[in-house]
Amino acid sequence: MKTLLGPFAQILPMTDLSLKGALQDEQLKVIEKGGVVVENGNIVAVADYKSLLQRYPDSEIAFIDTPMVLLPGFIDCHTHICYDGTRSRDYAMRIAGKSYLEIARAGGGIWDSVTKTRVADLVTLTENIVARANRHLKEGVTTIEVKSGYGLNEESELKMLRAIQQAALHTKAALVPTCLAAHMKPRDYNDSEEAYLQWILQELLPILKQEQLTQRVDIFIEETAFSAAAAASFLQKAMQQGFAATVHADQFSAGGAAVAVSAGALSADHLEASTEKEIALLANSDTVAVVLPGASLGLGMPYAPARKLLNAGACVAIASDWNPGSAPMGDLLVQAAVMSAAEKLSTAEVLAALTLRAAPALQLRNAGQLIPGYMADLQAYPTADYRDILYYQGKMKPAMVWKKGELVSI
Ligand code: NIG
Ligand code: FE
Repeated sequence: MKTLLGPFAQILPMTDLSLKGALQDEQLKVIEKGGVVVENGNIVAVADYKSLLQRYPDSEIAFIDTPMVLLPGFIDCHTHICYDGTRSRDYAMRIAGKSYLEIARAGGGIWDSVTKTRVADLVTLTENIVARANRHLKEGVTTIEVKSGYGLNEESELKMLRAIQQAALHTKAALVPTCLAAHMKPRDYNDSEEAYLQWILQELLPILKQEQLTQRVDIFIEETAFSAAAAASFLQKAMQQGFAATVHADQFSAGGAAVAVSAGALSADHLEASTEKEIALLANSDTVAVVLPGASLGLGMPYAPARKLLNAGACVAIASDWNPGSAPMGDLLVQAAVMSAAEKLSTAEVLAALTLRAAPALQLRNAGQLIPGYMADLQAYPTADYRDILYYQGKMKPAMVWKKGELVSI
């Protein structure tokens, strides 16, 4: 049975836009008084509402009786929403001026979340993910990448990835799992970083493959995590096993993005410390440059150079990095809107960064645009002017969200 949704004051199908480089708002296609026909979870047609009424006279009508702007659901291609406990103590120390080292010495940092997540059971972790995913879904985020990386041993990394798999059965949001066992060398691992990465490659990844827990790996390249050389070899070997790769790159110091690009990673994420060299490398590659304004806000650090990346010709996506340490807020639209004011990103660039330009980071071929055959992942904002969405800096939330054509009610 076909359903005709509409009329919408404006539909932004996010089509006919280049995947890379700067975008002007004039390039955004806007269908005034539009409608969408959906069937079996997919989009059948997107066009003027009246013409759809004539073309699909037998469809069920889902009438929208107030002015709304319709967009594709957002894709959050970088989160760490599988964790237990908070790090509000770290945050209070940070805003009081304490350094990264002082916080780590006081028992904070990633290791604190590892400790708390290791003692949490599967059910608790699953419930935490479902609650966070549902909050995101209500706010228009219909696809969410979720990383492990607070386990850092076989038992707890498997527990995290199993929790993500379980959570996917209890939320309508689509979850894309990623193994981030290479988040840092665990403090209770007594051998070298190379030996730890070997353990991931030889022991952990085969289990993940066998249990079909994920097809993706991530690694944090940083002085406090893994070296560029060790990461390059890790990524090459993981990809030889059939895993797709993404990298935490250039967060505090440059070096990771070059490794991501030469490995052919799907994305290089963070980039706050990227220089002209990394910007040029990303712009000349197919690696998506994922910027994470939530981490800049949480750490009180400069934003990634999104404007320069776009001007150079990169594919720039914006993700939340939702995690207990550096990005606890987890509001993707607020973060994107606030960053756009500081970095001077056009509405077209921001909306593209949350939809069609985030899709390739997760190898999604049927999401991020309103195209016949794509999933009917939709969100409608209570306004007649799409510019209001960033104008209210993320405070205006979607009034209606559909996942695969089904109206979400949470
Ligand atoms: O993406 N950069 C490393 N990892 C996370 C932070 C995780 C944490 O502090 O718990 C990030 O910001
Ligand atoms: Fe992250």
